[in-house]
Amino acid sequence: MTMTQDTRQIYNAQAGQWTRDEPVLLSDYSARPFLLEMCEPIAGCSILDLGCGEGYVSRELMKRKAKRTLGIDISENMIESARKQQLNEPYEGLEYAVGDLREEDDLCVESFDLVVAVFLFNYMTLSETRRTLQRAFSVLESGGRLVFAVPHPALPFLKEDKFPFYFDATGGYFSGRDQRFAGEIWRRDGSPVKVQCVHKTIEDYFRCLKDAGFRLMPDVHELKINDEHVKQDPKFFGPLLDLPLHLAFEIEKQ
Ligand SMILES: C[S@@+](CC[C@H](N)C(=O)[O-])C[C@H]1O[C@@H](n2cnc3c(N)ncnc32)[C@H](O)[C@@H]1O
Repeated sequence: MTMTQDTRQIYNAQAGQWTRDEPVLLSDYSARPFLLEMCEPIAGCSILDLGCGEGYVSRELMKRKAKRTLGIDISENMIESARKQQLNEPYEGLEYAVGDLREEDDLCVESFDLVVAVFLFNYMTLSETRRTLQRAFSVLESGGRLVFAVPHPALPFLKEDKFPFYFDATGGYFSGRDQRFAGEIWRRDGSPVKVQCVHKTIEDYFRCLKDAGFRLMPDVHELKINDEHVKQDPKFFGPLLDLPLHLAFEIEKQ
């Protein structure tokens, strides 16, 4: 059984494995391109990137002509790496800050057209997720949107614990709620990266959105790999064919 670890430690220890400017990790193929599509229209938007890591998604948003992006992450090393990349290839309007989103009472003083959170909530308990979504709601302009993705809640119960992506479930779909499942996701170069998932059910995410103040119907996608992925690299993507990998939400603030 894989051991769970403190989030900040995990990401401080493996910031080097996350640093990238092109698709490297499985989820760079199976999730991030779809999420960026869900974020459109991006041009001219001011964006808050929660759990931005070393800034891969923030930079992609800036490439798509966002006016401003503020990325926040708990890991000093991930933010250091993001800032280094910003020094090498600067985007005007892109900034980063270190912060624990579970503790920030005022996420920031400004408001945003778009809030994104790419694989952040799987590091939070149900109550931390609810609070963070409430804060995300409060910094969104009216008409603004939230786009986020989490590992698909069914995946740990459908997939064996092996290459190229898994979570080691402790407990069942309902009894495992708020349990921290350790897992790994692979890079295309064959090296695994440690990830975790504080398990929540699909209903939990819908309820948290409602509790946060969102009233409109979210657009929800169950992200998977497709035939193109398998054609590109059957050994890497093949084992995941037909499995729900990630759950993505887009929801508007009225
Ligand atoms: C799976 S990584 C994703 C990074 C980035 N969003 C991406 O898509 O490349 C999750 C990130 O969430 C950050 N994170 C987890 N819990 C956090 C918290 N409470 N506050 C701020 N950042 C957090 C981690 O440090 C890590 O960088």
